[in-house]
Amino acid sequence: MKRVQQLVLAVALAAVSGACDEQLSDVAGPSPDLRTTFTSIQREIFSTTDSSGRLACTQCHTDVGRVPPVNLVLLEGRAYANLVGRASNQKPGATLVVPGDPDASYLIHKLEGRADIVGQRMPRTTGPFLTEGQIRIIRRWIELGAVND
Ligand code: HEC
Repeated sequence: MKRVQQLVLAVALAAVSGACDEQLSDVAGPSPDLRTTFTSIQREIFSTTDSSGRLACTQCHTDVGRVPPVNLVLLEGRAYANLVGRASNQKPGATLVVPGDPDASYLIHKLEGRADIVGQRMPRTTGPFLTEGQIRIIRRWIELGAVND
């Protein structure tokens, strides 16, 4: 009887202590190292084509060797200033990232492919788009204040 109780307790503890890490990488799907910091979003989403074949944003959003679409450069060191508190160049009145408010952030509308967007859902290909989990992590970074961390 005692052994059984100990076993149950051990399993329960393992479930609790492992929960956080397990959850975040489960949510992050094809970019398991994605975290709710800007550095991580830059590295795992903007600059990198992920393991599902979803294109890096900087394939297009760069001014190296091409004109960046809608003047939006998402290269490391420049993306933050081009997103946070910046007006959309396509949709009048929209702001790309509003700190603390993912639903008001036009970047999220473009990533989710909402009905109100001008142009196409991002990344602008035939897919794959970001997974729901990847978008949730970016939403959470905005909710936490869209800090340049
Ligand atoms: C294959 C090229 C391509 C890729 C990859 C791509 N984009 Fe774009 N993006 C465009 C083009 C072209 C436009 C303008 C036309 C449109 O919106 O459909 C645009 C527009 C945008 C806009 C609107 C900017 C504004 O001022 O309103 C945002 C935000 C955006 N992209 C974010 C992203 C993000 C984030 C990624 C990566 C997840 C990404 N894009 C990947 C080509 C691309």
